[in-house]
Amino acid sequence: MNDAPIGVYDSGLGGLTVWREIRRVLPDESLVYLGDGKNCPYGSRPREEIRRLADEAVGRLVEAGCKLIVVACNTATAAAIDFLREKYAGVPIVGMEPAVKPACLATRSRVVGVLATERSLDGDLFRHTAARYGEGIEVLMVPGRGFVELVESDREETPEAEACVRAAVEPMLERGADQIVLGCTHYPFLLPVLRRVVGDRGVTIVDPSPAVARRVVQLLDRYGLRASPTHRPTCEFLTFADEAYRRRLEQKALASL
Ligand code: DGL
Repeated sequence: MNDAPIGVYDSGLGGLTVWREIRRVLPDESLVYLGDGKNCPYGSRPREEIRRLADEAVGRLVEAGCKLIVVACNTATAAAIDFLREKYAGVPIVGMEPAVKPACLATRSRVVGVLATERSLDGDLFRHTAARYGEGIEVLMVPGRGFVELVESDREETPEAEACVRAAVEPMLERGADQIVLGCTHYPFLLPVLRRVVGDRGVTIVDPSPAVARRVVQLLDRYGLRASPTHRPTCEFLTFADEAYRRRLEQKALASL
């Protein structure tokens, strides 16, 4: 038993899509969410810089006494997960899985679309996963240009968002993709628009966050880290930006439940 919180980290608001899944499957656990905010978006920054930012953030969550940390950011996972696991070896760290495997297993058209940030797509994690599971399958990797900015500025339900999503997704649909993987934790906030763009073409949109939450449950059980039955769970929100941003994190989190 361990009543310490689980830490969840992202460059900004996106990791809340993972936070809400963890909250759903582990309602008795305390959570600390850190949305950097000050340096978001990470998506086109150099890898070394992302590693430094992730180090600072995970260090802050370790300081806050977290018993397990989820890097709810594909970009930071791709750039820094090995480094973080080595540096903070005393704390289990869960990273994002690109979800290319389930999409490749499920595709019937043998065309899979992957949406993610530029830095995720040119990193080894995505490329190796696609090479490993995508044999004989066309894996189309397309950066979600402008997606993160739309979510960070609460414009995910606007005509501008629809145009942006259409520009990235239409070419995938034209190639016959029947699976579209959301490889960035900000993107599930664009699901209503994505569904409109995809329409009734029988396309499955794959969001890896429920699988990440299940992995957290597994690790808590493996290491005997579940909160005690008498524990009263709390949710805390931290940021490297200002108090207004911290409040936005809190409001968006509660609205997402
Ligand atoms: N939400 C993040 C991801 O999953 C990062 C987005 C960004 O900051 O560019 O990749």
